[in-house]
Amino acid sequence: RKGKTPEEVVKKYLQKVKSPPEEDCTICMEPLGGPSGYKGPGVGPVSKAESVGRLAQCGHQYHFQCLVAMYNNGNKDGSLQCPTCKTIYGVKTGNQPAGKMEYHVIPHSLPGHPDCKTIRIIYNIPPGIQGPEHPNPGKPFTARGFPRHCYLPDSERGRKVLRLLLVAWDRRLIFSVGTSSTTGESDTVIWNEVHHKTEFGSNLTGHGFPDPGHLDNVLEELRAQGITEEDALVE
Ligand code: APR
Ligand code: ZN
Repeated sequence: RKGKTPEEVVKKYLQKVKSPPEEDCTICMEPLGGPSGYKGPGVGPVSKAESVGRLAQCGHQYHFQCLVAMYNNGNKDGSLQCPTCKTIYGVKTGNQPAGKMEYHVIPHSLPGHPDCKTIRIIYNIPPGIQGPEHPNPGKPFTARGFPRHCYLPDSERGRKVLRLLLVAWDRRLIFSVGTSSTTGESDTVIWNEVHHKTEFGSNLTGHGFPDPGHLDNVLEELRAQGITEEDALVE
């Protein structure tokens, strides 16, 4: 863990704002010209000059204390995501539990991808105990339907998606712990924000092939997690 305090992390991504605009902070809904509406533990005092900051890349402005409170509510990994436009500052990581990701090529074609073989990804996550980064620390979580098998065309674009999924796995962004929207079960391992195809030769669940937009959608979902083509080159 890095030695930076939440205030230091947030400050790193901010530019100074001399006179706040006559707008509301969209985190607390209070005017940017006044104090942050967020009060509570972990929110220290802040000088007038530093009460509002502008995120350096996207330009969106918030109360400094609101950003610190938002950061403290997350998994405190040194990254910050603009709540308005989702621009990511730093490297976003998730709270996926420990497990294994494997893949291999199988000599069959997917519906809609007649000219190539298929990549099968196998995710395996055992049940366990929730850590401080999970909704109910100390409580057990279940893990249903593992190993989960997923499919990609073994095309150039499919292999690119695979490389990015490997980065997403390392950053703990493929799964999360929470309430399954399919089963309603809480404290269980669930898919995070990146869609996977879990059906091979049919499409009964809507998570199968053919789906011409699938690879583009996944690339977009990975981008929303801060994972882009450059990540596939460097890692
Ligand atoms: N295959 C792939 N993705 C799915 C599936 C599925 N069978 N079911 C749901 N999803 C997607 C949803 O579209 C949503 O975006 O996962 C996201 C989270 O949905 P949840 O139901 O909360 O996720 P989870 O409980 O993990 O998955 C439900 O997926 O792989 C299967 O075995 C798993 O039956 C379980 C189902
Ligand atoms: Zn605010």
